[in-house]
Amino acid sequence: MSDAYLTLDKLTLAYGDTVAVKDLDLTIAKGELVALLGPSGCGKTTTMRSIAGLLAPASGRITLDGTEITRVSANKRNVGLVFQSYALFPHLTVYENVAFGLRLKGIGGKDLDTKVTSGIKSVGLAKFADRKPVELSGGQQQRVALARSMVMEPKVLLLDEPLSNLDARLRLEMRAELQRVQKETGVTMIFVTHDQIEALALADRIVVMLNGGIEQIGTPEEIYNKPVSAFVADFVGFENVFALENGKLATSTTSVELSGPAPQAAKGLAWRPRMVILGSGPFQGTVRGTSFAGNTREYLLDTPLGPIKAEVDAELPTHAIGSTHAFDLPLAAAAPLSRYR
Ligand SMILES: Nc1ncnc2c1ncn2[C@@H]1O[C@H](COP(=O)(O)OP(=O)(O)OP(=O)(O)O)[C@@H](O)[C@H]1O
Ligand SMILES: [Mg+2]
Repeated sequence: MSDAYLTLDKLTLAYGDTVAVKDLDLTIAKGELVALLGPSGCGKTTTMRSIAGLLAPASGRITLDGTEITRVSANKRNVGLVFQSYALFPHLTVYENVAFGLRLKGIGGKDLDTKVTSGIKSVGLAKFADRKPVELSGGQQQRVALARSMVMEPKVLLLDEPLSNLDARLRLEMRAELQRVQKETGVTMIFVTHDQIEALALADRIVVMLNGGIEQIGTPEEIYNKPVSAFVADFVGFENVFALENGKLATSTTSVELSGPAPQAAKGLAWRPRMVILGSGPFQGTVRGTSFAGNTREYLLDTPLGPIKAEVDAELPTHAIGSTHAFDLPLAAAAPLSRYR
């Protein structure tokens, strides 16, 4: 990991007696785009609020750019925050919305105009400067919210599910836009999402959270290919996840010998549906369901190990529901999990 720019050190965050985040450690480098990924209620927004200074930690420290800011008030941190509902001022034009925070800071005249104009341009809205928010699409409004935060030149820009109000196509566009603006300006960005595809597509690093703690931190490739726990494996699409006990695959009803020695220290093994070999192997499964997905076809098999999902090339002959087939869970393809829980 490169130099620490933003550090969360043993951060515990609570609402009254309810602890929402416990002993969280996280170090982020300058210019990184980090995604916080996790299910509803895992503490993503709470973590963001503490970085922004909207929630004082119960314990722990926050350091930004060499200065401890744990108790520094929100307006003195130079941290930008963009929420899912971007709350533009409806009566102000795009230009005035973007200028608002700068004016509050006492910036005016030519300096203000330069910053606002380049901010609006950087999100591709130069032609819309005189429009009001109601005259813009959702994606355009979102870009105004982004420009409004960016012109403040924050040390860290926090985005809490900024794309979740957008339809699928706009979301893709905005994703690319965010990534471009971030790379061009070099701003350090933390991005909250519960969409794993979005996190994989955008982030330099992903922080997977669960129950107020961190399950795994890694590059998108690491998270996707080397999940450390059953939760992360399941979250990134390994749909066949098993505990390992005494070198055997353990299911709720049975335990099954592996074709070879299990990886050292593994507590579980996980296979994506496309890693399952259908048509040969030591196990038998009966087709319970099938779904066509364009290039591939997915089968849900009833097996002695419980339900198994297998994905095969859609051009192969289809298997009827109720038919029984051999299959294999190849050991070499399995992702070893260091935690099963
Ligand atoms: N104002 C509050 N008062 C009491 N508890 C709260 C408050 N805000 C959040 N919580 C609790 O803290 C925990 C973490 O909430 P948080 O909003 O950080 O989740 P999240 O990861 O952002 O979820 P989502 O994906 O649904 O936005 C949850 O259990 C939640 O119920
Ligand atoms: Mg949230």
